[in-house]
Amino acid sequence: MTTVTSETAIRASGLTKSFGDVKAVVGVDIEVPRATVTAILGPNGAGKTTVVRMLTTLLKIDAGTAEVGGVNVAKDPNAARLKIGLTGQDTAVDELLTGRENLILIARLTRLSKQEAIRRADELLTRFDLHEAADRNAGTYSGGMRRRLDLAASMIADPEVLFLDEPTTGLDPRSRIDIWKKIEELVAGGTTVLLTTQYLDEADELADDIVVIDHGTVIARGTSDELKDRVGGQRLEFKVSGPEALDHAAEKLEAQNVEIVGRDEREHRITVALTEGATQVARLIDSLEFEGVKIEEVFVHRPTLDDVFLTLTGQHVATDEEESLS
Ligand SMILES: Nc1ncnc2c1ncn2[C@@H]1O[C@H](COP(=O)(O)OP(=O)(O)O)[C@@H](O)[C@H]1O
Ligand SMILES: [Mg+2]
Repeated sequence: MTTVTSETAIRASGLTKSFGDVKAVVGVDIEVPRATVTAILGPNGAGKTTVVRMLTTLLKIDAGTAEVGGVNVAKDPNAARLKIGLTGQDTAVDELLTGRENLILIARLTRLSKQEAIRRADELLTRFDLHEAADRNAGTYSGGMRRRLDLAASMIADPEVLFLDEPTTGLDPRSRIDIWKKIEELVAGGTTVLLTTQYLDEADELADDIVVIDHGTVIARGTSDELKDRVGGQRLEFKVSGPEALDHAAEKLEAQNVEIVGRDEREHRITVALTEGATQVARLIDSLEFEGVKIEEVFVHRPTLDDVFLTLTGQHVATDEEESLS
């Protein structure tokens, strides 16, 4: 057994898992330095939850190895669990208990004494801004409050490594930002985080490293900046008056060596990757209008997961509902 206090909090190599004929995860490598955040970014059905369940000892690994906090999760699951906190994709709170009771219950299950459990619950309720709602049934909580209670619950035993499976899916923008802040505070305090997300902006905001997966395999990895360099920063989208105008605009943009990353024939929209920031927007619009292209609408947006997929795979994210099993 290795006793090295590694600076790598999560190390997985060749992680593989099948469910019958479904190859959910195939040869995924992940390395997360201590007190950093890595995001696994991918669409529904990509294999994100399966990776998290293997790393957290909830699912048997078919092939490959995984260590969390220096402990091999397959060989020594009990020791690994002591290092791990997990917030699953579905909230685990008991709606009939108050927020405080939920936390005390979990603290007791992790063998804290009654006094300790009460103290720990109180501390976490404060830390996750749930103090005022602490004595209300969790069933009355908003989505954001439930997620914060989940986070608090996964921090009861003060784990070294926290796994968050889609921590903000389904939340309103305000609550997402609250959760992001809490995650940042945890990392500043030394916790290592592996989170999964379907949102590029979330990975961009939180993660030091991003691993993009699709159909169970890694299709790209790097820092947010590296990934955005590949995807090409902001997007400029135009709507023009009709099909001829669309052809005309495309021709003129290509002549200026502007990269066209999307084209919608029905809506007469064209999307280009911006490389030079805001002044380029004005320049492109001017040049097209100068060429007689009538522009009806203009949008500037940051690249989305779909843009990442379009760039990396040449295909849109599959929106196959039957893949959204979990
Ligand atoms: N328990 C299971 N039994 C059968 N297939 C599963 C099971 N869990 C996940 N899958 C399949 O494995 C693939 C990856 O699923 P999952 O890891 O949940 O993806 P994600 O979390 O990225 O949405 C999907 O095709 C899903 O249908
Ligand atoms: Mg999932």
